[in-house]
Amino acid sequence: MYRSHTCGELRIADVGSSVTLSGWVQATRNFGGLTFVDLRDRYGITQLVFDQEEQPELADQANKLGREFVINAEGVVRERSNKNPNRATGDVEIEVLRFGILNASKTPPFTIEDETDGGDELRMKYRYMDIRRNPVKENLIFRSNLSLQTRIFLNQQGFVEVETPNLIKSTPEGARDFVVPSRMNPGQFYALPQSPQTFKQILMVGGMDKYFQIVKCFRDEDLRADRQPEFTQIDCEMAFVTQEDILNTFEGLTRHLFKHTLDRELGDFPRMSYDEALRRYGSDKPDLRFDMEFVDLNEEAKGKGFVVFDNSELVVGITLKGHADSYSNKDIKKLTEWMQRPQIGAKGLVYVKYLADGVKSSVGKFFDDETLNSWKDKLGAEVGDIVFILSGEEEKTRKQLSELRLEMGRKHELIKDGDFKPLWVIDFPLLEWDEESNRFHAMHHPFTAPKKDDQHRMLNGDHETMKSLRADAYDLVINGAEIGGGSIRIHDRQLQSKNFDLLGFTKEEAEEQFGFLMGAFEYGAPPHGGIAFGFDRLCAVMNGQASIRDFIAFPKNNQGKDMMIDAPSHIDTTQLNELSLAVEIEEKKD
Ligand code: AMO
Repeated sequence: MYRSHTCGELRIADVGSSVTLSGWVQATRNFGGLTFVDLRDRYGITQLVFDQEEQPELADQANKLGREFVINAEGVVRERSNKNPNRATGDVEIEVLRFGILNASKTPPFTIEDETDGGDELRMKYRYMDIRRNPVKENLIFRSNLSLQTRIFLNQQGFVEVETPNLIKSTPEGARDFVVPSRMNPGQFYALPQSPQTFKQILMVGGMDKYFQIVKCFRDEDLRADRQPEFTQIDCEMAFVTQEDILNTFEGLTRHLFKHTLDRELGDFPRMSYDEALRRYGSDKPDLRFDMEFVDLNEEAKGKGFVVFDNSELVVGITLKGHADSYSNKDIKKLTEWMQRPQIGAKGLVYVKYLADGVKSSVGKFFDDETLNSWKDKLGAEVGDIVFILSGEEEKTRKQLSELRLEMGRKHELIKDGDFKPLWVIDFPLLEWDEESNRFHAMHHPFTAPKKDDQHRMLNGDHETMKSLRADAYDLVINGAEIGGGSIRIHDRQLQSKNFDLLGFTKEEAEEQFGFLMGAFEYGAPPHGGIAFGFDRLCAVMNGQASIRDFIAFPKNNQGKDMMIDAPSHIDTTQLNELSLAVEIEEKKD
């Protein structure tokens, strides 16, 4: 028998029992007469004790155990004289009567502790050891609970889980596809799904009514802390629904998940239009855990002789409460340089400090104290506050100020630990005009329906009209992270063709790529809509973390590489030949 109990199980009530434990050696401590071994498994750590006088041979062997050796030990549970209140098993220890080494271990490349000395790449290369650490282990267990609770809730609501294929044809979600060559069809490729979008719509035409899937999606895009090339969605679709039905159902799912994994009741799920979010926070995913709303100062600041403001489309500010004294000239200079980095690209940063002994501002030469003081009310500023002002082209300036707002939130700890602020952002534009490529892009995806009132305008309007079309498209944002997105879909062939047309597809291209979907629309497609949550992101946000990596058992690094298995990698010529790829690859090498 390997074990009668786990390493996290024994308590004072077990004193006197004979037990067998198996696990990894976390640490050994030799105090001459006594040797202590901390034995660890998924469930916890139990202290083993070896008495040199009574069992000299066993104690000698124990002293030779290295970190991460796998052992099993038989013994009797006894009360500890010096208890460890930080450990669930801290009241007891095992007086070992017999033990065996099940497997030795080389010295691990980093410490298997909550705070490890291993860097990201090393931890990913030796992920099996990283997974032994509590933080990663706990994250994976959390993830497992979250998917179980997702299934419980959606099952209660009548959703059916349906698997859709992974070897498909390109679905445009805005990223590049990963492609897979087909051996049996030389020169042809499958694409891995960026999402099961078209399949879930087809399932609605198929009468499934309510579909869900916890599903891997693949996108070949630049990676960031909250983006992996393969990630998981809670993907859902419903027939005969309005936007209202979907928002309510998925507010319900979100509440259920918080309640049943974190034991948290969420507050309101306010709704904000896309335009309003941009106006008030400069972002379509505002973090509502702190205020610092934008205040437009065009009326107050333009036309007063300060050319920079006068030549700007927008002058806009935010008030940082109570920090007028925190910013020296040097600090302001540093912050300005931070704003001027290419990632943000602000031209400059104006400040106004409302101090007990007067107003101080970088634009004091252009605006007298009286004028600067008159801005106070509108800015919601009082003595002791500092105001930051940006100016320039409207869209860019709002985005830049949004970065500054978030930085202030982080830097001045305006965000309460453990706070959750959900938000529905709704009424997204249907299309986005791209100056560079001189064509429209779908703001969500090409299957998103314009609002009912806009359908006529979409079918009959001119180019400018198209820019103003709004969609029944919505995002769920929690704490400033885009957790999910979805829309009501087009279920009408004519409207779908028009949309492809606006997006620059020729009739032939649209037919070739999406003929199957438009064909299905001619056989009784019900009105339908849906949403997908980013499952990895939801895990991270629920645990107050920015990076999704540690909620993924085997993540990829920023170059899209799996460091453990060393993928992607070259394949041999035989394999290339079978896939009819050898020639292309050889040509590339030359
Ligand atoms: P969308 O593209 O908005 O919608 O994706 C849904 C959610 O998936 C998450 N997500 C990602 N998570 C990690 N790594 C990535 N690379 C990544 N890309 C996206 C985000 C996002 O909100 N088919 C539509 C859904 C629909 O319309 O029903 C779709 O995929 O949290």
